[in-house]
Formats: sequence, structure tokens, C-alpha cells
Amino acid sequence: MTHTLYSPLDMHLHLRDSAMLQTVAPLSAQSFSGGLIMPNLVPPVSTISGVLEYQQRIKEATKNETFEPLMTLFFRSDYTREFLQQASLHVKALKLYPSGITTNSEGGVASMDVEVLRPVLQAMSDLGLVLCVHGETNGFVMDREKEFCNIYEDLASAFPKLKIIMEHITTCESVALLDKYENLYATITLHHLLITLDDVVGGMLKPHLFCKPIAKRYEDKEALLHVALQAHPKVMFGSDSAPHPISKKECCGCAAGVFTSPIALQALAELFDKHNALASLQSFVSNNAQAIYAYTPPFKEVVLVKVPYRVPNSYGDVVPMFADETLAWSIQSVR
Ligand code: NCD
Ligand code: ZN
Repeated sequence: MTHTLYSPLDMHLHLRDSAMLQTVAPLSAQSFSGGLIMPNLVPPVSTISGVLEYQQRIKEATKNETFEPLMTLFFRSDYTREFLQQASLHVKALKLYPSGITTNSEGGVASMDVEVLRPVLQAMSDLGLVLCVHGETNGFVMDREKEFCNIYEDLASAFPKLKIIMEHITTCESVALLDKYENLYATITLHHLLITLDDVVGGMLKPHLFCKPIAKRYEDKEALLHVALQAHPKVMFGSDSAPHPISKKECCGCAAGVFTSPIALQALAELFDKHNALASLQSFVSNNAQAIYAYTPPFKEVVLVKVPYRVPNSYGDVVPMFADETLAWSIQSVR
């Protein structure tokens, strides 16, 4: 049994820089046609030259494959309209992080007050720039995303023409917002469709499944599956593949992030097949994102086959999700 995907897109991807970029970027480029690249480097990508130079480094690291890095800029509330206009020629979106909420987000926004953010958000809305948001408060870890829903509602109402992507949603409350506001969209990761907090800390602690936002309850996972498996037109796949070296994961003070990009399509095929939903996978991994971002990716044909795939125990010094386990689907060919 085979299933063919065309131009799969990963709309939330961490490729890092330097040696890590060389390790992970080719793995995404092998099976994806493009990806929305997150700007949380150290220091964050917040200048136009920074965007262009980073994009060039990604292109060099992926030069053997057809892969288009769609760039984002790290959101700052003091950008001018002139700067944003220039930036809009080179980036699809700005990524907003509340300060300190996740890996390398220390320079994020200190206040989510609509009036503080208004000048930048109004300019983005006028310029057609997309706002991608890491939607967590600094409250109790299981409630952070739920507590952020009010902020999503304030932003969506204040800027009705601004496309707002609720990144890597993990709760039923976020899913419910999709049908409440025309301008709210979401990315969903592979791991949040598969695991709950039980998988992370319910038995032996699994550092390679520790990420932000933390995996939630069974009912949250079900709500995410419900919209992903039917490829609800406002959701798209964003792996949030977030590689960290083994030394930063298997240690005291484990970094947040699950590394999934090399196994994502195989695991998605297995999941969608299990739920008799393979017919929706194309929309979930490409068509919905194309419509939301008004973007046509380069052509790529990925043939998946229902033949077991043994996941390596590591790629360089990064451990993937399902390391040393066997998935039901493999990639047969890419052209
Ligand atoms: C991401 C990272 O490592 O950059 N970590 C994560 O747990 N998802 C940052 C992020 O997207 O929150
Ligand atoms: Zn991320």
C-alpha cells in the first residue's frame, strides 16, 4: 500500500545554526518542499540582513534538495512601519514570543497589552504580514495556553484583517477558537497528536518528549486529532521540530523541544492510516498552509509506503522521537 503526498510543508520549524543547521536542515529538505523557519536563534533574527544571511545559510545547507525556507522575523514592539514594509519583501510572518516563555525567547515582548502592540500589529495587518504567536502565559504549566485564549481573542477582535496563527496548539480551548474568529488559524505538531503528559512524566521521565507547550490531557489530544484528521481548513502541520544536542536533553535542566522532522511524514501516514483519514493528509501537510499563506511551494512528490521503518537512535548528536522504534510507514521515494 502506498500514499503519495505533493509538496509537504512544515509550517513551524527550528533549524538552528552552525553545526546543528548542517545536521538537521538536510533532513527536513529530504522530504519537505519548504518550511516556515523560526527566528529564535541567539541572538534572535530581528534585522533584514539577519533574515537574508540566515536564509542563505539554510539554502547552502540544503542545496542538494528542493526546499524553500520561508523566513520569519522575531517580533519586537518597537519596529517601525518603514522597517516592516522593507521586511515584508523577505519574510512571510513575524513570530511573537512572550518574554522568557520558551527556548531563546528572552528578548520577546514584555507586555501582551493590545495598545502596546498596536502600532506594529496595525502595520503588519496593512502590509499583509502574518502574526505567529507562541501563546502561553507564565501561569501554572498546564494552564498557560488556556490562560492565553483571552489574549488571542483580544488580538483577533482588535485586528480583524490580521492573520493570526496560534502556534503548536495543545488544548481543546484553542481548538474552539478556530471557529469563533475568522482570522485565527493554528499549527499542530506531530507529537501533540500522539502524546499526553502521561507519556512525558507518567512513568519514567522522557526528556526527549519534553517540550513547550507541554503535552496536555487525553481530551485535548482528542480535540487536536478531531481537527487534524479532517484537515479542518484552518489548521496546518507545523512540526515544531526543535533539536537540542543529547548533552542538553539528557542532563539536569533538560532543554524543551522534540526532534521530529526526519520521521514526521512516516508517523503522520501511520496515524492518519490508523484513523482511515489518509485522504485528508495532503490538506493537513500542504494545501491548507498554501491557502492560509497564499503560497505555492516548489513541486515535490513523496511516495510513502506501508513498510516498517526503523528509526535511527540518533542523527548526529540529536535523538529523534521514536528513536530505535519501528514505524509502520516508510518513505519509498522522493522526486
Ligand atoms: C522550541 C525550541 O527549542 O526552540 N522548543 C519547544 O519546546 N518547542 C521553542 C518553541 O517553539 O517553544
Ligand atoms: Zn517552536
